[in-house]
Amino acid sequence: MKKLVFMMLAGLFMMSCASKQNNEQPAAEPAAKKVLVLYYSITNTTKQMAEYIQQKTGADIEAIELVNPYSTVYNEIIQRSSQERESGVLPELKPLKANLDNYDVIFVGYPLWFGTYALPVKALLSSGALNGKQVIPFCTSGSSGIKQSIDEMKQAFPAIQVLDCVGVRSSLMDKMPAAVDRVLIAQGLIEGQNEALAEYSAQQAPTAEETEIFNTAISTYPMMNGTTAVSVGSRTTSLGTDYKFVGEANGAKMDIYITKENSGAAPYFTAVDR
Ligand SMILES: Cc1cc2nc3c(=O)[nH]c(=O)nc-3n(C[C@H](O)[C@H](O)[C@H](O)COP(=O)(O)O)c2cc1C
Repeated sequence: MKKLVFMMLAGLFMMSCASKQNNEQPAAEPAAKKVLVLYYSITNTTKQMAEYIQQKTGADIEAIELVNPYSTVYNEIIQRSSQERESGVLPELKPLKANLDNYDVIFVGYPLWFGTYALPVKALLSSGALNGKQVIPFCTSGSSGIKQSIDEMKQAFPAIQVLDCVGVRSSLMDKMPAAVDRVLIAQGLIEGQNEALAEYSAQQAPTAEETEIFNTAISTYPMMNGTTAVSVGSRTTSLGTDYKFVGEANGAKMDIYITKENSGAAPYFTAVDR
C-alpha cells in the first residue's frame, strides 16, 4: 500500500517536458532498453541525479570530462565560461569511453549555465555524437527551469530526438527522486503509474492569499527580490496545489512554478522560465 501511495505521488514536482505530461500514463513494463547516463557536473549536484537515474534503471554511467577542467571556484567558472561564450570556443572534451551505438536511450545531464546547458554539454551536442539518438536531458539549477535549454537544444540540434526531460533546483534535491521517477515511468523504464495532472486554470489576477504564497516562495531566493506576481493559474494534485504565476521584474516577464503542499509546509518554487 505504501508503495502504491508513493507511486501515485511520484513526480508531482519539478518541470518535465513529456509531450503528454498531463495525461495518465499506462503502467509500464520493466526496462528492456539499454540505457546510458552521461552527465557533466562540477559541484556534484547533477552527479547525484545521474547516479539516481543509473540506480533506478540499471544503466551504464559516464561523466563527461574535459581536457582542461574548470576550476571549482564559482567566480572562476563564471569568468572562464563567460569568455568562452563570448568567443564561441567550446571546452575540449576527453573522448567518451562508451560506444553510444550500444544504447537505445541516452540520458544527458548538465547544470544550467546562463539559463541553458553548460558549455561541456554544448560541446558534446555540437560534436554530433548524439545525432540520431533518443535522448532524455536532465538538469539541476539554482532557480531556472529546464525549458530554455530544451528549446535551444531542439532548435540547434534537430537531429537529436528528445524524448522527455526533467530539471530540479539544487535546493530541492529531496524532491528529485519523485521528479525523476515520473519520467522513468512515463518512458517505460521503471514500473509504476503516474498521477494524471490537470491543466492549470486560466491566468487571472492573484488573490491576496495567492500573492502571499508567491512572496513566501520567492523570498527564499534573493535573486528573485523585486519580482511581483502579475497573474496566476492553479491546479489541484494529490500533494496539494500547484501554481503557475506570471511574474515581472524590471519590465521582464517570467513563468514561476510554485507548489503548496497539503502538509502545511512553506510553499516553494520549482522553476523559473524566462
Ligand atoms: C557558470 C554558471 C552559470 C550558472 N547559471 C545559472 C542559471 O542561469 N540559472 C540557474 O538557475 N542556475 C545557474 N547556475 C547554478 C547551477 O546551475 C547549479 O548550481 C547546479 O546545480 C550546479 O550543478 P553541479 O553541482 O552538477 O555542477 C550557474 C552556475 C554556474 C557555475
